[in-house]
Order: sequence, then structure tokens, then C-alpha cells
Amino acid sequence: CFNILISSCNNSVSSLNLIYWYNTLYKQCVNNRYIVDLLNIEKNLTFISSLSSLITCLIISDWIGIFCTNKFKSVKKIIIAIDGLSSTGKSTLAKRLAKHLNYTYVDSGAMYRAVALYVLEKKLINGGELNTPKMIIELPNISIAFEHNMDINSFDVYLNDVKVSKAIRSMEVSNAVSIVAAIPQVRQQLVRLQQQMGAQKGIVMDGRDIGTVVFPNAELKLFMTASANIRAKRRYDELSTNSSSPSLQEVLDNINLRDELDSTRKDSPLLKSNDAIEFDNSQLSQEQQFEKIMELVNSCLQL
Ligand code: DC
Repeated sequence: CFNILISSCNNSVSSLNLIYWYNTLYKQCVNNRYIVDLLNIEKNLTFISSLSSLITCLIISDWIGIFCTNKFKSVKKIIIAIDGLSSTGKSTLAKRLAKHLNYTYVDSGAMYRAVALYVLEKKLINGGELNTPKMIIELPNISIAFEHNMDINSFDVYLNDVKVSKAIRSMEVSNAVSIVAAIPQVRQQLVRLQQQMGAQKGIVMDGRDIGTVVFPNAELKLFMTASANIRAKRRYDELSTNSSSPSLQEVLDNINLRDELDSTRKDSPLLKSNDAIEFDNSQLSQEQQFEKIMELVNSCLQL
């Protein structure tokens, strides 16, 4: 019975066949016994009752099979890759999608920022000039980890076991990160880590090369854009909650410079993948964006 239960969970139709087969067998046996052992009512009753228990068990297992099949259908997991220009609200959207879908959220930009912070701390960047050979030697000494923080419902970023979630958002890091992110050895290491994180699917990752390099087979690829002025204002509002906030002009200059560096670097430049859906959110509220993207997510999940 146990074996049949398992096999019917895999294929509910098979148990229907088995019921038919046992039914036929049952009729034949009872008929034969009726002929040869007409008077042994007790034996016949035992046989009939054990067969009916078996059939009941098969019917129940059949329902379990159908239930399991439906259950598996509803837990299909996909990869959602969100790429786009700086400060287009990728991470806000990605976080919300991940929470709603119960997926893992990975901010790949935070990983490049953590490497940039390490480089700054080791004074390997001076006047915008990176000491690339030294940085490559230092790469094995860099460890990056994410830890879920229940209080802010987001992930804290750790660089060599030190929490750097705030430090990686400074203007100093923003000014250095695109230079560091252009180094192929840095990218290889981080891309490998990112691919490991998404191996089980059920992940929303945002960045610049997620749909093109990290997960070229992602089920849903989005490419976010918005005007530079709107992006600068959004980032400025976000940063002005910190004590050492830069001016709006400084933020705009940084955004324009990063767009330029990220789009023109040789290794994995910021590009819209052919199968990515372009999404200009200049005039959309966060709520409107979420609703529109959820429509796309739902159609992917139903495929
Ligand atoms: O998303 P963000 O602005 O925090 O990213 C910081 C920088 O990291 C960005 O200027 C480019 C780089 N980056 C990248 O090259 N590839 C990624 N997948 C993510 C970020």
C-alpha cells in the first residue's frame, strides 16, 4: 500500500488503473472461491474486507496524488532579473517583489560597493586612479555576506564580517564603485557568487548585467529607465536622511558619470538584453510599478 501511495503521488492516473485491476482480480477470485469454497463464508469475508481496505487506500492515495500535483504547480519558482540605470528604483521594486513572492532578494550593486569600500579602506584608489594589480592580489581576502534584518525587512551587507550596509552608500563609495566594477577579475568572482545564490531559482536580483551575463535564461527580465533629473532627485531624497548629504548637483553628476562608465566599460557593460522588457518609471508611483510588474510575473508563473 505504501509503495502504491508513493507511486500514485507521482502519477495519480496509475492508481486508477490499479483500482480497475484489483477490482477485476477481486471479482475473479470471489467467483472462483464461490465455486470451490461456497460454505467458507468467514474466509471470503476476510478476503473481501482486506480488498476493500486496499481499494479505499488507493482512492485516498489518488486524492493525495492530485493534491500534490496541484501543490507543486503553485510553487513554480522563477528568476527575476532587474537591470537598468543607476537610481531607477530597481532595489525598491526588487525588494517588494521578493517579499510578495517569498523569494530571495539580492542587491548585486551592494556587492560591487562592498569591494569598492574595501579598496578605499586599503587606499588602493587615489585621485580616481585604481591600483589594479594590488587590488587583484587582495581579492581572495574579501568576503561578502548578506544577512536578513527583520527590523528593516531588508538585508544587511557584511564585508569581512563587519556590517557595512550604511558605509557602502556613501558618496565616496559611489564615486569609486564604477571603476572597481569595470575590472574583469572582480566581475568573475562576484558573478560566480551571484549564480550560486540563484541556483535554486525563487530569486529577484537587480544590477547591470543580471539578464545578460548572470542569468541569461531568467524567466523574467526587466530593464528600468527614468530621466537623469528624476533619478537624481530620488537618490538625493534618499541620501538627505543621512547627516553628510551631498548636494542635488553632486548626486546628478555622480549618476551621469556612473551611467557613462557602466555603459561603456569593456566587460559586461550595462545593456538591455533583447528579451528584456523596458520599463520607464519616470512618471509612475511605486504602487503603479509594482502592479504592472506583478502582471508580468503572474503571466510568467502561469506558463
Ligand atoms: O545598483 P548600484 O547603484 O548600487 O550599483 C553600484 C555600482 O555597481 C554601479 O555603478 C555599477 C556596478 N554594478 C555592476 O557593474 N554590475 C552589477 N550587476 C551591479 C552593479
